[in-house]
Amino acid sequence: MSAVSARVGAAIRGEFPIFEHKTYLNSCSQGALSHRVRAAYEEYLAGWDENGAEWEFWVERSEAARAGFAELIHGDADEVAVTTSVSQGVNGIVSALPFERGGRNRIVISEYEFPTVGQIAHAQELRGAEVVHVRPDADGSIPAERFAEAIDERTALVCCTTISYRTGHRHDVSAIAEVAHANGALVLADSYQAAGAIEVDVRTLGADFVTGGTVKYLLASSGLAFLYVREPLVDALLPTQTGWFADEDIFEMQIATYRPHGTARRFDAGTPPVPNIYAGLAGMGIVEQAGVGAIAEHVRGLNERLLAGLDELGATVVTPRSSYGALVCILSTDATAFVAALEEEHVVTSSRDRNLRISMHLYNVEEDVDRLLETLARHRHLLA
Ligand SMILES: Cc1ncc(COP(=O)(O)O)c(C=O)c1O
Repeated sequence: MSAVSARVGAAIRGEFPIFEHKTYLNSCSQGALSHRVRAAYEEYLAGWDENGAEWEFWVERSEAARAGFAELIHGDADEVAVTTSVSQGVNGIVSALPFERGGRNRIVISEYEFPTVGQIAHAQELRGAEVVHVRPDADGSIPAERFAEAIDERTALVCCTTISYRTGHRHDVSAIAEVAHANGALVLADSYQAAGAIEVDVRTLGADFVTGGTVKYLLASSGLAFLYVREPLVDALLPTQTGWFADEDIFEMQIATYRPHGTARRFDAGTPPVPNIYAGLAGMGIVEQAGVGAIAEHVRGLNERLLAGLDELGATVVTPRSSYGALVCILSTDATAFVAALEEEHVVTSSRDRNLRISMHLYNVEEDVDRLLETLARHRHLLA
């Protein structure tokens, strides 16, 4: 075992007290709480108590989060906005696009976008946008060709989530981006279900905008997210959803003009979410020390064991085996009842649509897979 992979599985599990009483397989909803993240919150409170407003230090922490996100996605800190949610980042982007009726006013979205992306896209109809949905083929996949059919010279923005939160399908973002760019459109890849679970590399992904947050595989809590904006685009994008932390010089406190920062910081907005930044830095630190490559390899091994067991049980696996991340979904006759039945046995999963969602992370081990499979077998009547 290499030094890097020594930071996954049994070696790191003790950091996460939930495993003392639960088999936790729900990282696609929320990463497990670690001692380190709890201590980071305590550190924030202690500093506040001790020194009152630690503004300069807090702004420094925010810059550390920006640098952390940049490193995670292999971008530059000047290409990263620190936001409080994916919604904030997506709103910032669309607020910078004109959507003139009769002009380049279409937003193409995959059927696998998170609700926030679909809802924000449709809200732009009030500003002249038209939204085009790209639906899956019969096998559940949405190949790049389906996007190609929907994209043309009227397309302003294409939204293709990296991994579907509903099914675990992965989009071929770079192939979709190639078509979009050939038609002069921009591409947004919501990578919340990927960041920290698999490599997200903005140098090869092809997307112009990438967003995600700390709640899931970055092991922290809500209220902290990021938006990557490809550097050559920054100058031309003027977000009308903005705030004083997006100004060229926040310390000048000016109210005379809109003067967006020269970098992706122009997509920041109000006061940074300081407590969440403490937590986010601690959570991201755990991921960084383990290494996203090692985490992805570890989870792939566990998922292979899971898939073999699911086949033996006769389960219908919705997530394609040719291309998946951490999330594996299986079809159920009653996914809500399935989650509840497993919860009774202290196995934590979640559901979307008719699917039971199982998602593992660096802290899971083979015993978790075996425990899940035994429990699924006891409730096999809920498998579709
Ligand atoms: C793919 C995806 N996008 C976005 C979100 C959340 O967006 P926001 O940060 O705006 O709440 C989630 C999960 O909560 C998600 O799974």
